[in-house]
Amino acid sequence: MEYAHDDVRHVAETLFARIDKLENPRDILRAKEIGELYARLRTLNDDQKATFGAEVNSLKQALRKEVSGRTSVADEVRAIDVTAPMDVNCSVPNFLSHEAGSEHPITKEIALITDIFAAMGFTVEESRELDDQYHMFETLNFPKGHPARDDYDTFTTVQTDADGEGFVAPAHTSTMQNRILKKYKANLEANEAIAAIVPDRVFRNEDLDARHEHTFYQIEGVYVAKEVTAGMLVATLQEFLQAYYQKELDVRMNPYYFPFTEPSFEFALSCPFCEKAGCKVCGHEGWIELLGCGLIHPNVLKAAEIDPTVYTGFAFGCGIDRLVMMKHGIEDIRLFHSAKLEFLRQFA
Ligand code: FA5
Repeated sequence: MEYAHDDVRHVAETLFARIDKLENPRDILRAKEIGELYARLRTLNDDQKATFGAEVNSLKQALRKEVSGRTSVADEVRAIDVTAPMDVNCSVPNFLSHEAGSEHPITKEIALITDIFAAMGFTVEESRELDDQYHMFETLNFPKGHPARDDYDTFTTVQTDADGEGFVAPAHTSTMQNRILKKYKANLEANEAIAAIVPDRVFRNEDLDARHEHTFYQIEGVYVAKEVTAGMLVATLQEFLQAYYQKELDVRMNPYYFPFTEPSFEFALSCPFCEKAGCKVCGHEGWIELLGCGLIHPNVLKAAEIDPTVYTGFAFGCGIDRLVMMKHGIEDIRLFHSAKLEFLRQFA
């Protein structure tokens, strides 16, 4: 345990030293070293987990405090003056007439993405815009007080449920996993797989930049049957990406940590804007993180009363806005909600 304690201290030193070098200081909250500390948490016994978890939590809080003091004046959001009087003499703005209106690019792309998965045998479900913490966290193997709950930067209501917990605006479509597993459990008894996707809107209380929005879209995939392997997960994702982009892609797959999958991975596509040289869009990394995935954790199957000794499965959660950005060369995710007609007209 002493050793684990030293690791947190070492990570703290490394991360505090790195903050000054980052264009967006808040990127430090997503440093891979923090993910590695969470991965370490899993290997500890319950007593050690409590102490180590508290140390990781305080490190994250200290980093948050540090970066919150560094937001520049230019980053502050300027309020819109809604009381400004309307000039009745101004000319009619150049709005699209309703005949010339068109579907939003995200709506179009969701239809295409859904068709590809439907052709692969996945049924489609919807998520919701307000959920309880039981589905957002507990069914996904984040027990109460789990430090990784903080990672999701959720918007929470003041009003609470019967357990005294606020409701959440789902920060990921994984909030639907338990419902899907329960709804389609009968498939398994009939010797068929559970295969469903959930394309829908999610919300995160985070700082915005070229690839981070507070409101964006994800597509969740859930597949459960007997003898499901990580190879099947990779093959499914590759088939989808190939069908969506219609070309060979440079894909990077790294081990990662999510409490609800084991093992977990992160898929990134090589940045089409700089071709790995590093630019503002990819945060100078040369790669853009596209999705998280892994084999469904036995506790997630148990929470839906599915026997993990008989059935296994995979799940993935992919950022739809980022998929679309990379397909159409859109350099800033904020354009999707900007209501800029010159942007939207390109997709009419
Ligand atoms: C998740 O949300 C997990 N629920 C994914 C998952 C599902 C893992 C099932 C395992 C099994 P993550 O926080 O990394 O993971 O987000 C997934 C993807 O959503 C990212 O790769 C990215 O493409 C997109 N994304 C995340 N945050 C933002 C944001 N602020 N703006 C736009 N896209 C985002």
